[in-house]
Order: sequence, then structure tokens, then C-alpha cells
Amino acid sequence: MAGPHDHDNANHEVQPTEAPTAKIGLYFGTQTGKTEQVCGIIKQEFGDLVSDPIDVSEGDLEHFPNLEGLICGIPTWNTGAEELRSGTTWDDLLEKIGELDLKGKPVAIFGLGDSVGYGEDFVDAMEELHRFFEKAGAKMVGYVPLDGYTFVSSRCLIPHLNEITKPEDGEKFCGLAVDEDSQNELTDERVKNWCTQLKSEMGL
Ligand SMILES: Cc1cc2nc3c(=O)[nH]c(=O)nc-3n(C[C@H](O)[C@H](O)[C@H](O)COP(=O)(O)O)c2cc1C
Repeated sequence: MAGPHDHDNANHEVQPTEAPTAKIGLYFGTQTGKTEQVCGIIKQEFGDLVSDPIDVSEGDLEHFPNLEGLICGIPTWNTGAEELRSGTTWDDLLEKIGELDLKGKPVAIFGLGDSVGYGEDFVDAMEELHRFFEKAGAKMVGYVPLDGYTFVSSRCLIPHLNEITKPEDGEKFCGLAVDEDSQNELTDERVKNWCTQLKSEMGL
């Protein structure tokens, strides 16, 4: 029998998430919350220009083309893997990101890792996300020099992306590397400096 609330309940499909109203979308994947914490610093620095941090397992890729830019955080958990290195929801989304049309849109990536405990594969998942956004036509910004980092090798070093490369053979990370495990005293300054760089590179 039809009741007064039937109309509200008519559609039990998963509803699309609301589009962020800010210019820049701030998205993260995480296993233990450190990448989300770093988003908190970024949100503080940008204020209303960026969305509240959105867990990418709850966000909607369809909103990406409508944003003016994106800042995305990704940790590395699948040590030494050829692909799907993050171990978070980002791994399930890479192919779909590559199929989006993000032509010319500024996108910046930051990667969480451990330069001591996992120094041979430091922040490797950052390169994968970078690669698929680039495939979508995004204008990648936020590259960072290697000064102040000590690690054995990484796949995230320009100009040798997706190759296991020693720091002496690389010029920059393809995003911001953040090490909350072994260099957490540097996180605040690194992230704040990066935000200043992004404001300039994204024209904000
Ligand atoms: C089992 C395991 C594997 C990890 N593998 C890597 C790795 O290959 N490269 C790296 O830089 N960090 C690695 N890490 C460090 C994590 O990326 C780091 O702790 C990160 O801050 C976690 O972020 P989250 O809390 O947002 O998940 C690993 C940590 C664990 C416990």
C-alpha cells in the first residue's frame, strides 16, 4: 500500500556525491590516516579555494572535469609492485582517471612514504597517479627538488619516471614527497612551501 514517504524511498540506487563547490578539489586515499592529516594542512593554507578533504573512496570522479584543478594525496603500501602500488582506492580508479578529459587542468600530487623503512621504493605510488592524470591531459604541477631527502631510489623522479632511479640521477619528484614516518618534523614546512608554490603554478 502506498504511504506518504514512498516517493522519497523510491530510488534505492547509490546517489552520486555532491560536487565540491570550491575551485580546487582536495582528494586523498589512505590506510592509516596520515595522508588525510596532510590534507588538513593543505586545507588550512588554501581556505575556501579548496574543498574539504574528500576520501576518494567516497568521492566521485565525474566531478573532476568540472573542477578548476585538483590536489591529490596518495600513500605507497604495495612495496616494489609494478602497478597498483598505493594499496588504497586510488588503485581501482587509475584506469578511469586515464579516460577522463582533463585537458589543461592543473593537477598536483603529493605522496606519503617512508624514506628509511622503504627507501628503495620511496613514494612510488605517486608516479602512477601522475601518469594517469597526465594521460587524461592534465597539466601536472607541484614538482619538488630532492634537497633535504635521503633515500635509495624512487620511481617518481623526473626525468626517469616509472624507472627505479637513484636520487643522484634524478632532478625532481613529480609531486611533493611527505615522510611522516622518518622525517615528520619537516612535514609542516614542506607542505606549506608546496602550497605557496601551487598557488603560483595554479594561478590562484
Ligand atoms: C607494509 C608497509 C609497506 C609500505 N611500503 C612503502 C613503500 O613501498 N614506499 C614508501 O615510501 N613507503 C611505504 N610505506 C610507508 C607508508 O607509505 C607510510 O607509512 C604512509 O605515511 C602511510 O600513509 P597512510 O596513513 O595515509 O596510509 C609502507 C608502510 C607499510 C607498513
